Amino acid sequence: MRAQSASTTPTRDEPDLGHHGDAEVGDGLVDLAVNVRRAPMPDWLAEPITAALGDLAAYPDNRAARAAVAGRHGRPPEEVLLTAGAAEGFVLLARALIGVRRPVVVHPQFTEPEAALRAAGHDVERVLLDPAEDFRFDPARVPADADLVMIGNPTNPTSVLHPAADLAALARPGRVLVVDEAFADTTAAPGVPGEPESLAARRDLPGLVVVRSLTKTWGLAGLRIGYLLGDAALLARLAAAQPLWAVSTPALAAATACASPVAVAAERAIAAGLAADRDHLAARLSALPGVRVAGRPASAFVLVHLPGAAEVRQRLRERGWAVRRGDTFPGLGPDWLRVAVRDRDTTDTFTAILAEILEA
Ligand SMILES: Cc1ncc(COP(=O)(O)O)c(C=O)c1O
Repeated sequence: MRAQSASTTPTRDEPDLGHHGDAEVGDGLVDLAVNVRRAPMPDWLAEPITAALGDLAAYPDNRAARAAVAGRHGRPPEEVLLTAGAAEGFVLLARALIGVRRPVVVHPQFTEPEAALRAAGHDVERVLLDPAEDFRFDPARVPADADLVMIGNPTNPTSVLHPAADLAALARPGRVLVVDEAFADTTAAPGVPGEPESLAARRDLPGLVVVRSLTKTWGLAGLRIGYLLGDAALLARLAAAQPLWAVSTPALAAATACASPVAVAAERAIAAGLAADRDHLAARLSALPGVRVAGRPASAFVLVHLPGAAEVRQRLRERGWAVRRGDTFPGLGPDWLRVAVRDRDTTDTFTAILAEILEA
């Protein structure tokens, strides 16, 4: 077990929290670095987005989208705050919760929550999960007096899905608990209807804010649409920090469409296909010498440990393939890579090239 595994450490000299997978693609590389699904947009989504272009002279009216998203999650509209992607949600939290004294971020995870907190002047503490324990989360590791806790579920980049009960155990009066569920829709499990460990419909947990993104599965990273779910009074504080009309009319149209029963059914079907493709990728990777797949991957990407991964990543780029470096995530290092789940043919071609590189 690594010394830092069970500790809460103050921020030190650290990797570049502002690095994201999109910086690793381009130049004709095959993209296994960015976790946005690439597929033709279904008509039920493309049509309302296109129709919204006819309304661009008017300022956005978010009421219909807010009601639709609320309906999807079984909440009243006041418990929904639409945002320009999940990323805006982190900034609103960091700016509005300026009185917070002991913010804790559970790592490794998406780096923007911590980056936003730091940019707003917060002194951030980290709880580092241990690779030797498959990045399992123990709620007892979070300091009792932490008044803001941020954790991802499923977590990027580990692809670990924490039990909902472990996260719910963190909620208490006087604490804001932020659960980033940007990839919750990717976590289908056989025999479990819906999103197995999601807290999105939980209205009984004090201080809970669930962060959701519509940019991943629906390929809308350029449109910027996501939302927060939580207590109405808390969301009103966050809304007060949001610029007027932050979410555009086409993005609102997308939010409404993606909350429909048709969209939710499509998400479930996509997640089931993804699970099969993920198993295939994990099996192919695990068969390679020196490659270890972390934990039991549950999302649209797989984290791998591979001695010399930084060098291997360069070799892959020379062969036309982009994967996500692991060393910019707190708690990982140069021996980690994150690989997006793609179709089987892509996986087979990729893993064959990776095998050649490892054998060379
Ligand atoms: C775990 C996680 N949360 C949130 C985001 C931000 O998503 P959005 O595009 O909705 O801002 C990302 C983007 O990579 C992510 O990986």
